Amino acid sequence: MSVNKDVKRITTHVLQAMKDNNEKIAMLTAYDYSMARILDAAGIDILLVGDSASNVMAGHETTLPITLDQMIYHASSVVRAVKRALIVVDLPFGSYQGNSRIALESTIRIMKESGAHAVKMEGGAEVSESIKRILSAGVPVMGHLGLTPQSIYKFGTYTVRAREEAEAQKLVEDALLLQDLGCFSLVLEKIPAKLAKKVSDALHIPIIGIGAGNDVDGQVLVTHDLLGITKDFQPRFLRRYLNLFDDIKDATKQYITDVRSGDFPNEKEQY
Ligand code: KIV
Repeated sequence: MSVNKDVKRITTHVLQAMKDNNEKIAMLTAYDYSMARILDAAGIDILLVGDSASNVMAGHETTLPITLDQMIYHASSVVRAVKRALIVVDLPFGSYQGNSRIALESTIRIMKESGAHAVKMEGGAEVSESIKRILSAGVPVMGHLGLTPQSIYKFGTYTVRAREEAEAQKLVEDALLLQDLGCFSLVLEKIPAKLAKKVSDALHIPIIGIGAGNDVDGQVLVTHDLLGITKDFQPRFLRRYLNLFDDIKDATKQYITDVRSGDFPNEKEQY
């Protein structure tokens, strides 16, 4: 029997029950009202208001420039659209690292001003004080290990993480620590599938992968990548379900042609 079939609202408890029942969790990003409505109507379990909005919505090269105010704007648009999915919001770069009081203040702003349900943050032991403080305020936290794009200038590239034993070991330790602290779930990004399986088997909380193979408890993708709105980003882990860049371009060209030729609007399209 499916745990989430008749659920009116996905909560962290539902997600845990899904893992316990071996049901896979489907998660996607959303940054605006219209797209969030469609994804929620389709039955997505988790919507992540990701700081990838910095790339796909604002055109920045990295996730670093997006601000807390901008994340709150995106999150509140998503919240207005969604009836069922759990809404998780990324704490943006600079809003939680190195100071747990600032981390809590940032989180409280997100929760109060957007109405979202949980926050996500990148990192392991180095952000443990921030995680503890946020959890003690009653806000669910999702962790994020492996390729953590906010640290891109430390890594130097977006290649697969934790191939080396030492980094893999540290990742497993961090995952266990995040679970012990009380995180309700973890995202593992771009790591070897075998390592992701090891983490998923070792932890009782749901593990959501992106480029981490199939032996985890769920998957997340950036919606604009899955729909083919982005074009140049083509990592091996990405499955494109549509090619909207070309579809939208073709529709736009047709519109331009129809306007220029006087075909649009026709008699039925006017008052
Ligand atoms: O910001 C984001 O979209 C993310 C996902 C890639 C997990 O963190």
